Amino acid sequence: MENIRGKNALLTGGSRGLGQVIARFLAKEGVNLALTARSEDGLNATAEEVARENVQIKVYPADIMDHPSREKLLEDVKSDFGKIDLLINNAGIVWVAGYVSLAPTYIETMIQTNLIAPMLLTRMVLPDMLNRGSGHIVSMSSLGGKRGNPYDATYSATKAGLIEWTRGLKLELAGSGVGISVICPGFVAESGMFAEYNKKPPWISGESKPAKVAEAVIRSIQKEIGEIVVNPGPAWLIPFLDAIHPGIANWLYKFGGVYEFYRKQAEDNQKH
Ligand SMILES: NC(=O)c1ccc[n+]([C@@H]2O[C@H](COP(=O)([O-])OP(=O)(O)OC[C@H]3O[C@@H](n4cnc5c(N)ncnc54)[C@H](OP(=O)(O)O)[C@@H]3O)[C@@H](O)[C@H]2O)c1
Repeated sequence: MENIRGKNALLTGGSRGLGQVIARFLAKEGVNLALTARSEDGLNATAEEVARENVQIKVYPADIMDHPSREKLLEDVKSDFGKIDLLINNAGIVWVAGYVSLAPTYIETMIQTNLIAPMLLTRMVLPDMLNRGSGHIVSMSSLGGKRGNPYDATYSATKAGLIEWTRGLKLELAGSGVGISVICPGFVAESGMFAEYNKKPPWISGESKPAKVAEAVIRSIQKEIGEIVVNPGPAWLIPFLDAIHPGIANWLYKFGGVYEFYRKQAEDNQKH
């Protein structure tokens, strides 16, 4: 979809972090915004921040884990905006912890929020998009979805799920006029869930600015790119090394400090 000016986007996770930055970048491109997340204050703060752009902005406090909330959200957005041209599945959660210390409800909540909600929201917007022969869906995965991280395996599983689901659906949607993309950022500095840790990532992981993620979202729509990895390196090389031999990546994770980074974060999380 080369021209996104005047299109309507439903953006999840719009109350803070990367969602706020993506909202700003979309608004600059002239995209009208339906912002959703649970925190109304956070949504209003984002709306205020992007208000200077000449676009329509409305906020919809909702829990995307809950199906009746999703239905109401879609109904309200369609009634206010007429149609949804772009769905940006950005909302996500993470709990870095040893697998057996992770309460089963946390495992379910992560899968519901990171994987099931984007899949079902997409299922809900797709029929209209297909009828119009136009639309685009972007989901926020992670480099962790291309290579499982220790103490973060459930998160990695949800993000890997998003990647393969997007790949399959992209083939199915070919020629329909509806595009689908997945963005895989590594660690992002300055804002978002990783910035909250206030820690330097291991050298091997690299670190990106939030603007790079927002630019990738827009580029994926405009250029119909199926998957974009956002990482300055060398971590983006890991999936290629994995394809040669998984032992190489395992070795790099151990000696590049990735394993230790996540272990320490899990230890810190357990203290709080
Ligand atoms: N930051 C990174 O380094 C990084 C790297 C790779 C991938 N990612 C991915 O990028 C996306 C955005 O992450 P972020 O760093 O911006 O995280 P964040 O700052 O923690 O923001 C997460 C967003 O998701 C929303 N959310 C969480 N659970 C929700 C629910 N049940 N219903 C509705 N909204 C919900 C939150 O809003 P409320 O709490 O107000 O509901 C918030 O707006 C995520 O999918 C994340 O996995 C981030």
